[in-house]
Amino acid sequence: MSQHKDTPIDHNIVQNILDEFNLPDFGKATIREIVSMVNLAERRSGKRYIRMEMGVPGLPPSKVGVEAEIAALQKGVASIYPMLDGHPQLKEEASRFVKAFMDVDVSAECCVPVTGSMQGSFASFITCSQCDRSKDRLLFIDPGFPVQKQQLVVLNTAYDSFDVYHYRGEALREKLESILSLGKTSALVYSNPNNPAWFCLQDSELKIIAELADKYDVIVIEDLAYFAMDFRQDLGRPFEPPYQPSVAKYTNNYILLISASKAFSYAGQRIGVAVFSEQLYHRSYPDLKKQYGVAEFGNVFVNRVLYSLSSGTSHSAQYAMAAMMKAASEGEYRFLDEVREYGRRAEKVKKILLSRQFEIVYDNDLGEALADGFYFTVRYPGMSGAELMKELLFYGISAISLETTGSDQQGLRVCTSFIKDDQYEDLEFRLGKFRSDHPLSTKTT
Ligand SMILES: Cc1ncc(COP(=O)(O)O)c(C=O)c1O
Repeated sequence: MSQHKDTPIDHNIVQNILDEFNLPDFGKATIREIVSMVNLAERRSGKRYIRMEMGVPGLPPSKVGVEAEIAALQKGVASIYPMLDGHPQLKEEASRFVKAFMDVDVSAECCVPVTGSMQGSFASFITCSQCDRSKDRLLFIDPGFPVQKQQLVVLNTAYDSFDVYHYRGEALREKLESILSLGKTSALVYSNPNNPAWFCLQDSELKIIAELADKYDVIVIEDLAYFAMDFRQDLGRPFEPPYQPSVAKYTNNYILLISASKAFSYAGQRIGVAVFSEQLYHRSYPDLKKQYGVAEFGNVFVNRVLYSLSSGTSHSAQYAMAAMMKAASEGEYRFLDEVREYGRRAEKVKKILLSRQFEIVYDNDLGEALADGFYFTVRYPGMSGAELMKELLFYGISAISLETTGSDQQGLRVCTSFIKDDQYEDLEFRLGKFRSDHPLSTKTT
């Protein structure tokens, strides 16, 4: 509980809300729980929070997508069930997009629309965990996106995880080997750039993942929810290096999840593409045959799993995705120019936090400072992530604790997408007040 009564948001209002929610373990509060608390605190106090808890795109949706979608709806696609494996035009464009921005060759057949990466990971978890029944668990290279673990809870599928903080570079090999060599892991998962920490696994690390995936026959699920958004380099020029790094360069045991939500600011329409290597898509698994009567991985994913989940992906959204990917591949839609705004916001927010004695938690990729992007992580000396998250609520600032992300570090995930231009001054003032209410002893600095 905050000891300070004179906080930017009325102390009693925040305390009452905390009491009402009465969460048994505040550090494990879900994003949606924090959202509800902050909505309530804003309503009751009449003051705006600086909202950095939820990863919602804070930019207008891609115009290219919206126009294509409207045109498709006017053509009447809404009345027709989409094909489960996707509209041919989207499949072709997805294949071209992957070549243009990753320099990876995949056929159109192996590109399948999903209702967001969220469904892509759910369907992947189902199929991967069923294709070889001797392998009963998945592995998360954490920190990660908490909802994916919830998906495994829904599926009642076991998982292992480790915080990669201390296992970057060559150290990753031994750590992975210690788990994969047990022979129980069907698939491993990570996001790149990483949610919540915004580090990017480097080519040397992706190579290690690929080698071990091949050695132990493990499927790599590479979640590219923040496709090409490592702003340290310009990954947005089609058919020109540098490309979005990917494990697909080093193994044929992969599923790539490409989402329209962040790169194209298209989260509301729920669309992404799952991309399979040719080998995995066509690989036959006896355990799938036993369960479904068909053995091919891609066939089960599309015609059994996706069919059961949503019977395909919204028709008009597929037209939007096809148009956005086409325009991007042809160099007409420079999608990164729009989302670079997140980097600018992160730079400003970081500066304010760092000048008030906050510290970045995950701060480098094999020695190179991270890009300013959609997320970053911070800590305040002497405070746990849960304490900091709770305390900042009294100061009108919301973010989520790293505890929920599988991180062993104490701190918060800060999301830059929602901060408004007129809020930086407030942020400075509120953090200034926080800082003077929480002076650091020389021991902790
Ligand atoms: C790492 C990661 N994966 C997946 C998603 C969900 O993406 P989609 O909106 O395409 O379902 C998110 C969204 O925040 C994410 O951060």
